[in-house]
Amino acid sequence: MARIIGAIATSHTPTIGFARDRSLSADPVWRPIFEAYGPIRDWLEDKRPDVLLTIYNDHITSFFFDHYSAFALGVDDRYAPADEGGGPRDIADLPGASELARGLGVSLMADEFDLSFFRDKPLDHGCFSPLSMLKAPSAPWAWRVVPLQVGVLQFPIPTARRCYRLGQALRRAIAAYPEDLKVAIVATGGLSHQVHGERCGFNNPTWDHQFLDLLETDPEALTRLTHAEYAELGGLEGAEVIMWLIMRGAMGKTVRRLHRSYYLPSMTAIATGLWEDVEPHQHEGGFVDDQLAGAETIAGTYPYTLDRSARGYRLNRFLHDLIDPERRRQFLADEMGAMSTAGLTAEEIGLVSRRDWRGLIHYGAIFFVLEKLAAVVGVSNLHVYAAMRGETLDDFQKTRNASIQYGVAR
Ligand code: FE2
Repeated sequence: MARIIGAIATSHTPTIGFARDRSLSADPVWRPIFEAYGPIRDWLEDKRPDVLLTIYNDHITSFFFDHYSAFALGVDDRYAPADEGGGPRDIADLPGASELARGLGVSLMADEFDLSFFRDKPLDHGCFSPLSMLKAPSAPWAWRVVPLQVGVLQFPIPTARRCYRLGQALRRAIAAYPEDLKVAIVATGGLSHQVHGERCGFNNPTWDHQFLDLLETDPEALTRLTHAEYAELGGLEGAEVIMWLIMRGAMGKTVRRLHRSYYLPSMTAIATGLWEDVEPHQHEGGFVDDQLAGAETIAGTYPYTLDRSARGYRLNRFLHDLIDPERRRQFLADEMGAMSTAGLTAEEIGLVSRRDWRGLIHYGAIFFVLEKLAAVVGVSNLHVYAAMRGETLDDFQKTRNASIQYGVAR
């Protein structure tokens, strides 16, 4: 069974990654940043967690306002460093703990936290900047990650209380996950800073230290503050510290502090912290996914779950992309070439080229990309329905009240 072995908090300003990439540890101005991470690295080497569940916010790099969500859980196997305008950092991709992520996603949704799920998105400095400090530059990543992206940049955003409660649900979900995994929770962001407007450059070390104290001893008090109060006390962008309450909610009532640091070299107060539970991690329920219980007995029915989505992602991506006229043209001009270029496996290519509609569903395609493929190759939806049922079109039409033909093609 998975268990939380400790919690790490860290600012995620790009300056942390900047210092690490330029090996500035000998410079007295930059040295305190490196020293802030020493005890955390020692703890990680000693405890050897399997997974760092990393709570961060993207800075309008991989997540834009065409679809902005409150809580987005990464369910990918691998995460590349994002290009934030000057090219991606020269750092290895982070391996993702995708099975755990899917399990936590199921549990959190059952616990009524409505998440979004993402893949194929590089992670920006919100995640990579602090994580790169948690290992020697030449060392490989010693753990996998589950990134949890919190949309804190376009209001309305989750309340501090909602973040804390999500952390409590996360604790339940992790405790109930069946695989024996050691998980460390990493909260990133803050502390006080503001990077826009006439108030740009605002800091408040007094509040920062109060926040750190309350986080340990009275996190409930922090859940009662509004976004405006966080902005007033710690700067508007500093209000991202509500993400630390997710981490705190995932910890027990009483925590033991192993490390804490605070340094304000320029724009953002850089803080780090490390805590363990005083009480051993207890199983507290959770992972109750009874919404689909029994669905497996409904004949010919295949709920499109996160597991199916992971298995069918490459194929679904390819078929979905047929909504692009140029991709359609390439597919119709050279079907096999287009599928090979997209990296489809021989099995996937066979299913598509045979128009094996039932086989495609069994494999993990969702119906709504099949109707796109049908439109591209000039087949009606009724053909697809009949084929999935194993009937001729005529026989299938006899089961309908009216014999009509339709599809999503114009
Ligand atoms: Fe941030």
